[in-house]
Formats: sequence, C-alpha cells, structure tokens
Amino acid sequence: MTIKEAIDARHSVRQYKDTPIEESKVSELRTLIAACNEESGLNIQLIVNDPECFDVFLAHYGKFSKAVNYIALIGKKDMAKLEETAGYYGEKIVLEAQILGLNTCWVAGTFGKKKCKAEIKSDEKLVCVIAIGYGENQGKDHKNKPLERLCKADLSSAPDWFKAGVDGALKAPTALNQQKFVITLEGDEAKIINKSGAMTKLDLGIVKYNFEAASGRKLL
Ligand SMILES: Cc1cc2nc3c(=O)[nH]c(=O)nc-3n(C[C@H](O)[C@H](O)[C@H](O)COP(=O)(O)O)c2cc1C
Repeated sequence: MTIKEAIDARHSVRQYKDTPIEESKVSELRTLIAACNEESGLNIQLIVNDPECFDVFLAHYGKFSKAVNYIALIGKKDMAKLEETAGYYGEKIVLEAQILGLNTCWVAGTFGKKKCKAEIKSDEKLVCVIAIGYGENQGKDHKNKPLERLCKADLSSAPDWFKAGVDGALKAPTALNQQKFVITLEGDEAKIINKSGAMTKLDLGIVKYNFEAASGRKLL
C-alpha cells in the first residue's frame, strides 16, 4: 500500500477485535516513534494491552469497544507549536499504521486522561491519544465542507501536485470533522492556515502532513 492509498483507506475506527498487534509490528511502530521523537523533540509513546484507558463512560458513549492499544502524543508544555507538531507526527504514524494493516482513531476527548499509562513528566503535556489495533470495520468516508470554503485557489489551473495535496488534506481527520482550515496557492507555494477554535492547531498539523504526503511537496 502506498502512502496515498493509506490516506484513502484511513477512517476513524472505534471498535476493535481481540487480535493483539504482532510483536514485529509493535517493534516497527516503536522504531518509527523513536525516529519521530528524535526529529521533533516530542515524547510520543506506544502503550499496548491497557484495557483501562478507554474503559470510561465517555469512551463507551463515544462507541469505543476493545480499544486496548494507543499512542500517547506528549511534548514539553513550553514547546513552540506543540499541538501542530503533535498533529503532524501523529498523522505520520497513523498512515504508517494503516500501511501495516492497522486501524486508528484520533481521540482528544473520549478517553480516560487520568488512566493513560504513558509516562508524563511534570514539564510535559498529554496532547491526545490515538487508538490503534485491528478494527472490527474499516470506518467510512467523512463528509467534506464545500471545496470553495477549504481551498481558495483555482483548481482548474492549479498544478497536479497541488490538486493531489488538496485531495489528501480533505481526507485528513479533524476533531469533530470540523475542517477549520484554508489552503491557498501563492505562485508556486501552497499554504495552509487554521481558523480559530478548539483543537484547530492539532488539526492543522494533521492536515499539513496529509497534504505533504499526497503532493510529495513540503509546505513552508
Ligand atoms: C484532534 C482530533 C481529536 C479527535 N477526538 C475524538 C474523540 O475524542 N472521540 C471520537 O470518537 N473521535 C475523535 N476524533 C475523530 C474525528 O471525529 C474524526 O476524525 C472525524 O469525524 C473525521 O472522520 P474520519 O477520521 O473517519 O475521516 C478526533 C479527531 C481528531 C483529528
């Protein structure tokens, strides 16, 4: 599976099978996470086989079942662009997980924050978690806002890499599917900004990663 196919195949999955993640895949994920931490300065951790973190009312209300593995996105409280960076690297891990045949769901609200088993130092913050495992289903496509609200560029004359990037960005997960971002094209440079609102900086990092992965071009 290519990264573009992973973007197409990824949907939020909240119900998981009992099947544990194989040791070889856990090890691949840990290697990737270590590389992401090295590059970003984050302290992302993979927790496997912890039935407690999603064993809370909110998680059941949010229709989570058998979610026992998760990736905790953690970073220094005073890190510049902590949320955006967590979003960017979290989505990189999510797409690699999809390529490994695993399903995921970003979770900022419907989990037990105090039950999270990651090691969080006093100068660090838990940004959110990502549930991971073998899904009971593959999820489904989300609805998009009208294209003209998300992309302020003339797509009929835009280069192919930009169109591919926009397609990837529209398929990115955002909190409550809010899609509070705007993509522009200035000369040969694409830019993505977030609108104001809760979790929009985290969403921005996620959307930027999808745009880059789909277009093959780095954003500024
Ligand atoms: C930052 C972030 C936080 C999220 N928090 C939750 C959550 O607490 N509970 C939940 O069920 N889904 C959560 N989601 C999943 C979104 O609802 C989902 O990504 C969105 O509806 C789009 O659907 P899709 O991921 O299937 O494309 C979150 C997604 C993101 C990106």
